[in-house]
Amino acid sequence: MKMTVIKKGRKLKFRKLESVVNPKSVHGIYPYRGKISALDAKQIIDQLPTTGLLLDPFCGSGTIVYEARKHGLEVVGVDSNPIAHQITKAKFCDNEIALSLFKVNKIIMQAKKEKQIKKMPEKALKYFHEETAKQVMSLLSHYDELDDYEKGTFLGAICLAARGCNQYKWSSTQIGKIAEEKNPVNFYEKFLAKLKKHHAPAESDGSMVILGDTRKIGNYVSENSVDFVYTSPPYFDGLDYTSNYTRIVHNIFDNNVSKIKDNLIQKFDSYEDNVRKCFNELVKVTKEDALIIFVVGDKKRGKEVINGGEFFSDICDHKPNYIVERQYSGTASKIWDKINKTERKEQIIVWDRSTW
Ligand SMILES: C[S@@+](CC[C@H](N)C(=O)[O-])C[C@H]1O[C@@H](n2cnc3c(N)ncnc32)[C@H](O)[C@@H]1O
Repeated sequence: MKMTVIKKGRKLKFRKLESVVNPKSVHGIYPYRGKISALDAKQIIDQLPTTGLLLDPFCGSGTIVYEARKHGLEVVGVDSNPIAHQITKAKFCDNEIALSLFKVNKIIMQAKKEKQIKKMPEKALKYFHEETAKQVMSLLSHYDELDDYEKGTFLGAICLAARGCNQYKWSSTQIGKIAEEKNPVNFYEKFLAKLKKHHAPAESDGSMVILGDTRKIGNYVSENSVDFVYTSPPYFDGLDYTSNYTRIVHNIFDNNVSKIKDNLIQKFDSYEDNVRKCFNELVKVTKEDALIIFVVGDKKRGKEVINGGEFFSDICDHKPNYIVERQYSGTASKIWDKINKTERKEQIIVWDRSTW
């Protein structure tokens, strides 16, 4: 049942989803840490009107902005992790798959002939079979010839190849132990298959994706312009968004990870100050009747579990209009809880500015 939220007073509704997994969708191009389920995000988006501007100030791999744009909204996504920025741009790229496959095939043919291939940085090389690493690097020198969809998929194919080289023993979201014997994985084939599998570009409009720091979002987004903010903010237990599969990719590109981390909200001690700063900025860029929706989780600090809803209720001078508490279903968090004997919940926090 489709229902439109009337901003004043009407509550968002949720039904229990059987499964939150949809591996063939465009969201499968990259195993981004903290990626939320598109099916779940769609539950909220389907209740929003189909016109207006939606901002995700911590867009990560762009799940929310992609789904919101498909729904009809104009969107702005902001993230300060360059890999997240590229993956989101990939989902915005309006490319023709047949032409793309033709073009990438041609690049692969050229890459195969190359004699002088740059060596993969040691920090990344340890995850790959030698032959696979060579194939990755041969295409890396053509990276600038790729469009945004191809670039994002290339990054995702690197993660998949690393997983394959380690005999697919890692999970699709977390890397694990490095296998002593690496499987050779044909990177060219993986890249082409992934291009075909996840292709689903959105139509062009005025939407944008910004590589930027949300603590200064007023520098990129106009004041009083946003109708909806919908986001899953960085986790307050210091989850590192540059780690795991993304660290392998950063290392292949020889990116300065500590510099990137300086622009990310990751440390628990300064977390509250930082999210407060972001929230104040969000108030500036939103309209006076905007709806602000945060999806957060309970977090474990040592032995204590901190209630995400309560924590976020204090970051704004206005109390949320309501909080919906839900059980995690079928996610890595659920598995993690089992191991740690905790029972964390997920909270959807809604501020309706029209009531301020
Ligand atoms: C929970 S993740 C969002 C995941 C996203 N919903 C998805 O489906 O992929 C939070 C994001 O906040 C980003 N982030 C952390 N600090 C930031 C900052 N100061 N400005 C902008 N983005 C930031 C991280 O890079 C991370 O991608």
